Amino acid sequence: MTREDIRTGRFAGRVAMVTGAASGMGAAVARQLAAEGAAAVVLADVNGEGAAAVAAELPDATAIALDVTEAAGVDGAFRDILRRYGRLDVLVHAAGVDDPEAKRRIADATVEGRPVELTDSLDDASWRRVMGVNLDGTFHVLRAAVRVMRPTGAGAIAVIGSSSAFDAPVGYPHYAASKAGVHALAQAVAKEVIASGIRVNVVAPGPTETGMAARTPEALRTGFADPRVRPYATPEEISEIALFLVSDAAANLVGAVLLANGGRFTV
Ligand SMILES: NC(=O)c1ccc[n+]([C@@H]2O[C@H](COP(=O)([O-])OP(=O)(O)OC[C@H]3O[C@@H](n4cnc5c(N)ncnc54)[C@H](O)[C@@H]3O)[C@@H](O)[C@H]2O)c1
Repeated sequence: MTREDIRTGRFAGRVAMVTGAASGMGAAVARQLAAEGAAAVVLADVNGEGAAAVAAELPDATAIALDVTEAAGVDGAFRDILRRYGRLDVLVHAAGVDDPEAKRRIADATVEGRPVELTDSLDDASWRRVMGVNLDGTFHVLRAAVRVMRPTGAGAIAVIGSSSAFDAPVGYPHYAASKAGVHALAQAVAKEVIASGIRVNVVAPGPTETGMAARTPEALRTGFADPRVRPYATPEEISEIALFLVSDAAANLVGAVLLANGGRFTV
């Protein structure tokens, strides 16, 4: 058997779900799961059309419109997978949002050479939106996955966190807090559910070339262009790490938060 054959079979027969699958890392994960033999890949995204477009490229893939802030809808989606396929083996949770308005304000301050002043004018709606999708959404998705996986005594979950949880960006407190919450939530759940045969781990990417990065103003992107470290990661590079986490090769990894930031800083 060649190395390529082994890789192709890594997820052979597995039933997988990917949130945030219409774009960026989620789309890359869905493509790689399909390429490596998954029996079924369910692509979920609030952008149902985008998820359907990615699914249309893939064998044995279906798409659903799903807003991870809606707990009942999330539970329903996982129950549907159980009804249709009998189990869920793999989940990669990549749905998340940035705050383009906060990024613009950070960029403007950077260009004008003045300190960023954001916290005193950060409104409740911006805070709730980021926390609602990133943190509440992760809770809804993890809870629904555990409800489906616990009875079968198996499952592997990778959550996309962020390096922003460690090196909290100035002017981005809501995003940093949401991702620090995601890491702690995933770790606490990981330590609980390993007793039921379910593994949960996190990959915390640094700057990565996705839809989210496309919404980053040029002045901030320039700041990330440091020749001493790797450039923006590709979605596929982060997807490879997420897929390692949900593969059998990571059997002894539980509650890990793998920082994947190309050498920008260490923790
Ligand atoms: N791009 C980066 O530099 C970077 C760095 C660190 C972490 N992240 C994280 O990576 C994850 C993937 O983001 P990406 O960079 O691929 O961005 P992206 O914008 O390309 O993809 C995110 C996807 O999530 C979906 N989504 C947004 N809100 C949703 C909701 N309420 N319910 C369901 N789906 C929803 C979007 O429609 C989109 O398809 C996110 O959690 C993000 O916070 C990104």
